[in-house]
Amino acid sequence: MSQWDHLWIHLDVASADPEVSEAYGLLRDHAIAIKDGRIAAVLPSDQADPHLAAQVHHGEGRLAVPGFTDCHTHLVFGGDRAWEFEERLRGTPYTEIAKRGGGILSTVKATRAASEDELVDLALPRAKALLAEGTTRLEIKSGYGLTLDDELKSLRAARRIGELLPVEISTTLLSAHAVPPEYKGRPDDYVAHVCEVILPAAAEAGLADAVDVFTEGIGFSLEQTRKVFEAAQAHGLAIKGHTEQLTNMGGTALAASMGALSADHLEYLDQAGVDAMAASGTVAALLPGAFYFLRETQKPPIQALRDAGVPMALATDFNPGTSPFASLRWMMSQACVMFGLTPEEAFLGVTRHGAAALGIADEGRIAAGCKAHFSLFDIAHPNLLAYQPGLPAPAVRIFRGEVVDA
Ligand code: NIG
Ligand code: FE
Repeated sequence: MSQWDHLWIHLDVASADPEVSEAYGLLRDHAIAIKDGRIAAVLPSDQADPHLAAQVHHGEGRLAVPGFTDCHTHLVFGGDRAWEFEERLRGTPYTEIAKRGGGILSTVKATRAASEDELVDLALPRAKALLAEGTTRLEIKSGYGLTLDDELKSLRAARRIGELLPVEISTTLLSAHAVPPEYKGRPDDYVAHVCEVILPAAAEAGLADAVDVFTEGIGFSLEQTRKVFEAAQAHGLAIKGHTEQLTNMGGTALAASMGALSADHLEYLDQAGVDAMAASGTVAALLPGAFYFLRETQKPPIQALRDAGVPMALATDFNPGTSPFASLRWMMSQACVMFGLTPEEAFLGVTRHGAAALGIADEGRIAAGCKAHFSLFDIAHPNLLAYQPGLPAPAVRIFRGEVVDA
């Protein structure tokens, strides 16, 4: 029996491994050995004995890149919001549309009307577009159902994406996304329903890996957020937050003080919030697609996050209202041009730091012990990934050690 199932030789490897001192964790002319879907070794090509492997593949000098993690999406929903887009372009603010019962609630209506199968059919092409770029883990949130049945339906649809496509799925319960129409004017009653009914049922069914809250004037207060987070932790679920997207409410500091995996958006984050994140090790998930699509002008405090050593992840936030963009590569470009990330920070944002935002330690790097999720690109240097979104697509995608059919 062979020691390795596969051996890829003559690759340049952008490992994203912090143990490698080169930028991007770059290793020239290396080999990747795979056993049981995991990386067994990363070593110089001339030290990799091909006789130890059942199958040897010539890498042709291509660049191996860790499978990307898109750590924040709302991929499962019905309908679209193209008319709302037109309305916003004519000058009506996003918050105004939300207060009128449009926005998130219009997607809630369409999502409730869709069956689980229909939601899967709608989500599949979105997921395929993301996977074609080399993404191997997607986080998918509920939050457009807002009833017990519709939230569980959405989470089941999310899990099914992982059975139908070569991708790992992390699910997040975001029932505290908006107050549904049947609880209008009674947000505390809805929060109690989330904490006492929806969240325990999702946890019991094993349908949620984490719990998220939209802490915002048009979302939920700090006190309501705390209640949902406490319920999540009582059920052993990780927490993460939509915080400081439209105003500074202190949701990030609250989430960080409770040990959140990530706080996401962060345009209005202040220094106290940055310090709280640094103290707790909470990842900052930046979502430039929503910043762009809402024509936001307040940028997240990148330099303060950098100075404090807060890891920065990048995600698409794919959703019908604020970020209808199924491309992480494009988010990398936007984060560099609009937020001032370096191309290397953008790369780490969709690899190692993206995985960290979901609490996943054995993905997002090409290193011994990690899952063998990586792509091979015909590019000379990883800085091209952020520079030229879209092209080239990966020449080869490898998921759990095996080549994915195009
Ligand atoms: O991440 N901020 C709240 N949630 C989503 C948008 C939801 C929507 O408008 O449908 C976001 O931007
Ligand atoms: Fe979001």
